[in-house]
Amino acid sequence: MRMYDIIKKKRDGGRFTGQEIRYFIDGYVKDRIPDYQISALLMAIYFRGMDEEETVLLTEAMAASGEQLCLAEIPGITVDKHSTGGVGDKTSLVIVPLVAASGIPVAKMSGRGLGHTGGTIDKLEAIPGFKTEMTMKEFMRSVKRIGIALTGQTGNLAPADKKLYALRDVTATVDNVSLIASSIMSKKIASGAGRILLDVKVGSGAFIKDMEQARKLASIMVKIGNAVGRKTVAVISDMEQPLGYAVGNALEVREAIDTLKGQGPEDLRQLCRELAAVMLVLGEKAADTEQGREMVDALIASGKAMNKFKEFVENQGGNPMAVEDPEHILPRAGKIYEVKASSGGYISRISAEAVGRSAMMLGAGRATKEDTIDLSAGIVLNKKIGDAVEKGEKIACFHYNRTENIREALDLFKQSVEICEQPVEKRETVKDYIYK
Ligand code: URA
Repeated sequence: MRMYDIIKKKRDGGRFTGQEIRYFIDGYVKDRIPDYQISALLMAIYFRGMDEEETVLLTEAMAASGEQLCLAEIPGITVDKHSTGGVGDKTSLVIVPLVAASGIPVAKMSGRGLGHTGGTIDKLEAIPGFKTEMTMKEFMRSVKRIGIALTGQTGNLAPADKKLYALRDVTATVDNVSLIASSIMSKKIASGAGRILLDVKVGSGAFIKDMEQARKLASIMVKIGNAVGRKTVAVISDMEQPLGYAVGNALEVREAIDTLKGQGPEDLRQLCRELAAVMLVLGEKAADTEQGREMVDALIASGKAMNKFKEFVENQGGNPMAVEDPEHILPRAGKIYEVKASSGGYISRISAEAVGRSAMMLGAGRATKEDTIDLSAGIVLNKKIGDAVEKGEKIACFHYNRTENIREALDLFKQSVEICEQPVEKRETVKDYIYK
């Protein structure tokens, strides 16, 4: 088999066999095939696409490219959750303890933020003392003891995805349905959960910008999960504007704590309620999503979800006082700047991507993997799409310490917001459910 022939086959619109897929994945992981040939292959896939069977085969080959975790020693049905990435997306901080409080074991591996999107690991590191690195032994022991552990990617899980993702990032081949689906599902399969809930984001702040593509991505991921015996459900949710009000690590932890207390922004509460309800069904704690929603409400109202969050923070070395008194214990930026509306009317646009990029310029995110982030920095919105606003009213607060990019961040933020004279409908947060 020659790499040249495999590239040419896809360039000319052909279909890969399983043998060809395993050949290039294995060869790339073992450094036998160079980046320039895989780059050409990725571009051919980008333009020619892959069908469902090829996508399943690619996912299986990527999942098998390294270690695969076995969670069989954990009693009960393990349920994992993955978001395709967005701005202000702190749902994992809310639903992981919530679902664990119901008795479903949660053994979760999460990532860091890159570019305009945030990552759960960075957010948790805003809690003083919180350890996001655990050995496999510590990770399993925690899940068995308190029913919850969350760590960065440990071990050598899906190394093919690590290499391919880095290459896609610099060859403009990220936003392809088959490549996103195989990237996400290979990691989920390798990390061992029995059942999987996917939160597929759609809109300006997401990789996928329209509903048709979002449905296609959700449906192929659900098919892949089910094909390998991991029952999978996807929820499609809005990422046209940031989720909730807070964007930035410590700011988002504060908002997640409010939400666990039954407060918090309406869109975030609603999405967390739906995602957690589906997880309760997947974990066989609820008969249907209606019962799941009732259980979610009860776990929040009784304080059980909040207590589980506190136990989880303490177990991973974090200061539990951060949960009781986030205002004083979480890092706070030294400077706050209020952004005011230039005219009155109704908010018709707050581009999630632009807000994410502005927050990144304030220090809340990294442009490259080597950048250090300011955990206290970010943006707190005061308005969402559909809200009425008066001229001169506060629409957002910038929290920052670093001043070098403030002007650029402000210009970008202002361009991202549009105000019109006519009333504007509020956006729907949950857009669709994909079961097969
Ligand atoms: N998240 C991933 O893990 N992979 C992708 O390709 C896109 C989002």
